[in-house]
Amino acid sequence: MINGGKPLVGHVSVSGAKNATVALIPAALLANDRCVLENLPLIRDVKVLMEILEQMGAKVREDENGTLEIDSSDLNHLHITNGKVKELRASYYLLGALLARFKEVSMAYPGGCDIGLRPIDQHVKGFRALGAEVEIEHGMINLKADRLVGSHIFLDVVSVGATINLMIAATMAEGTTVLENVAKEPHVVDVANFLNSMGADVKGAGTDVIKIRGVESMHGSTYMVIPDQIEAGTYMIAAAAIPGGDVVIENVIPKHLDSIAAKLTEMGVEVQFNGDSVRVISKGRPKCVDIKTLPYPGFPTDLQQPITSMLTQAEGTSMITESIWEGRFRHVDELKRMGADIKVEGRVAVIEGIRDLSGSNVSATDLRAGAALVIAGLMAKGQTEINNLFHIDRGYENLEGKLASLGAEIKRIKY
Ligand code: EPU
Repeated sequence: MINGGKPLVGHVSVSGAKNATVALIPAALLANDRCVLENLPLIRDVKVLMEILEQMGAKVREDENGTLEIDSSDLNHLHITNGKVKELRASYYLLGALLARFKEVSMAYPGGCDIGLRPIDQHVKGFRALGAEVEIEHGMINLKADRLVGSHIFLDVVSVGATINLMIAATMAEGTTVLENVAKEPHVVDVANFLNSMGADVKGAGTDVIKIRGVESMHGSTYMVIPDQIEAGTYMIAAAAIPGGDVVIENVIPKHLDSIAAKLTEMGVEVQFNGDSVRVISKGRPKCVDIKTLPYPGFPTDLQQPITSMLTQAEGTSMITESIWEGRFRHVDELKRMGADIKVEGRVAVIEGIRDLSGSNVSATDLRAGAALVIAGLMAKGQTEINNLFHIDRGYENLEGKLASLGAEIKRIKY
């Protein structure tokens, strides 16, 4: 429940990156050993992965500071039918990790946010190129290989998931694997760094080409996840969206925020980087802008929904082109309930800026749609009730607590 219209003022600290974390946890299974992951966000996706790992025979322990210990030396269960797998997309990283370590795995088809078609053909193509037999039947994906051998794999689409999964799968393949046309997202680099800390030989992460020289075995490691680029961007937008906002967002990697900072600046918002923090100062009603979502370093699709909320009150007409997920406009109907003037045609949304949103009863349809509605609620006049918070809890640590500490009138009514 949000009482809107209050500018956000103060300091807020960003948690560990969700989309890195959900890959680091499965990657920890590559070692017949103990890994410690630090600074993990306290979010539902982590809990779900922990439950899946436990059922596979791993020993898992998390403390309240986000340090997770994973001991997978007794891992024995390679047939993962658990319904939890369907709760998050990232469960597909278990395929790459277990194929690499055991040459065999069988898992229910992964789920995740409903934001459009979510094929995994590039993952499958890569597993096959490394020498695995892949069968998809009765809702299960079955992988099996006598041996994995390095290969030259050119991705047809720039896919974060396929890049990370194939990097993980190739760590212990014989010879060298070259992945081309890969994703360059910060979490791709983070996973590569973690793999190297476990004894892998991965080079080129962060560029278009990644080379992996297979090693015999991997060992345990202690590793700290990077801060969450999307959480940081969400607070930047929230700070900028309500006139009078002045927020210092701490624990960020400025380079990861270049595209969102540039867009906010174009909208007339003041953005100042200082070491590992960024200060965002709202200068009143923002200007309209056009945005096209693109793979990193372009404007991230995961911030498209939050910034759409901000643009509903911008001066003039904005156009958003969603080039990654064709179904990522489901928040628009909810924003319309709050008075927004938005037309969607295929992958394009045209937003006519209005003066005021009005509080309403809305529902989160997916994770970032949830964040978008929270921002809209903070901007709106009157009271907004947001339902289906479980989407938000999947990926934002203590969103309402952090916003309340910035002066927002927000409280959770029901868990
Ligand atoms: N694609 C294919 N074939 C594949 C894989 C992807 O055609 O085998 C297509 C997809 O349909 C999409 C595009 O490639 O059009 C990009 O998909 P990608 O594989 O990069 O997405 P993902 O790995 O499934 C991750 C994040 C998403 C984020 C996207 C894009 C995780 C767990 N999820 O998904 O995050 O939107 O990359 O950056 O890392 C979120 O955090 O809210 C979220 C949805």
